[in-house]
Amino acid sequence: MGKHIVIGISGGIAAYKTLTLIRLFKKNGYEVRVTATRNALQFVTQLTIETLSENRLYTDMFDTNRTLEVEHISMAEWADALVVAPATANIIAKFAHGIADDALSTLFLAVKKPLFIAPAMNTNMYENPAVQQNLDILRDRGCFILAPNEGFLACGTTGSGRMQEPEEIFETVDEKLEDDHSLQGKNVMITAGPTYEPIDPVRFIGNHSSGLMGFCLAEAAARKGAQVSLVTGPSNCSAHHHNITRYDVKTAEEMYQQCMSLVDNQDIIIMSAAVADFTPAHVAPEKIKKENTQLTLELVKTKDILASVGKIKRDNQLLVGFALETENEIENARKKLHNKNADLIVLNSLRTKGAGFRTATNQVTILARDGREFASELKSKQEIATEILQTAQKYIHQ
Ligand code: CTP
Repeated sequence: MGKHIVIGISGGIAAYKTLTLIRLFKKNGYEVRVTATRNALQFVTQLTIETLSENRLYTDMFDTNRTLEVEHISMAEWADALVVAPATANIIAKFAHGIADDALSTLFLAVKKPLFIAPAMNTNMYENPAVQQNLDILRDRGCFILAPNEGFLACGTTGSGRMQEPEEIFETVDEKLEDDHSLQGKNVMITAGPTYEPIDPVRFIGNHSSGLMGFCLAEAAARKGAQVSLVTGPSNCSAHHHNITRYDVKTAEEMYQQCMSLVDNQDIIIMSAAVADFTPAHVAPEKIKKENTQLTLELVKTKDILASVGKIKRDNQLLVGFALETENEIENARKKLHNKNADLIVLNSLRTKGAGFRTATNQVTILARDGREFASELKSKQEIATEILQTAQKYIHQ
């Protein structure tokens, strides 16, 4: 039996291309069910959709002429993935804020499988901060946003906002759903996010890490069948796979203790957390008042978790660290690789626009102990996560 795809169509002119997308999935052995908004049916007809998908269109939650199943729930369970193409600004806003007022937006909330969103709209609309922030929210929750292309738009202008071509969408979805159980039976530990080092009961020292890179790594490893322990500092990201066990910590010391209690069982250990290097020597028991003109905080070094694991790791455990450098990047990252006894170091460059903290994309160079270097292009953090794991897997059997 082929995989099950639910395609959600919202009301944009690009809906005509979605008909080709339905055909592509069918041609490649997928079973396809479609749900469309009322506005989508201004652009494409029920008859075309049903003929191409060979299934009934689901568009009306209150249709009395239907089976007695609660359709958005049964469809959500049936689906291996939901692909929303085209996704209008309106449906994106509903998804981001949990509004469920029609068949598609209700279904969206019920699906626990991979969610793909292919926005299509006028450039100004696409660039509007409201739309961008809604897309960020969805990305942070693990949705795959299939960024629109630049090109000629139906409104007569040229710019970004053109829905990806059906072939591109199909390829991305098909690749993500590939049956890859190459990490089945393996345990993977990942650290993510920042740490918060308390100064007094209300203040702390933190950093800009969102945790997204680590969460993407956790999901990518879980999808490959690994049992994942995700040790994370404070982060708004959420993990969406049943193979992931999440351990929430706040401080570098808590992250250290948690990692040390888990490390023995792990096959791959990836340290993507931005752990504070220093922590206040004393935490004031009460809120510090501003009565003095100056305040000096005494800071002490935290334990280096990566280096500590590097000291005790066995030969059959693969240790991956991260490095963020601003100068002599490769040289400094190589030093880190050796000093901390890691097998691989993932070098983030702050110089690359779109890479690093609080971005949805990243560009990395992975340095290996054997001197090899693997440089990636600027890609979504989900794609970078897959590349990092693929590289790690090359080394795990050596
Ligand atoms: N790391 C860690 N524990 C710490 C500090 C860092 O496990 N207390 C890990 C990070 O998760 C990352 C790697 O070490 O995988 C590199 O961290 P980075 O801050 O770039 O390097 P440092 O060793 O702190 O060196 P410096 O800040 O001097 O560049």
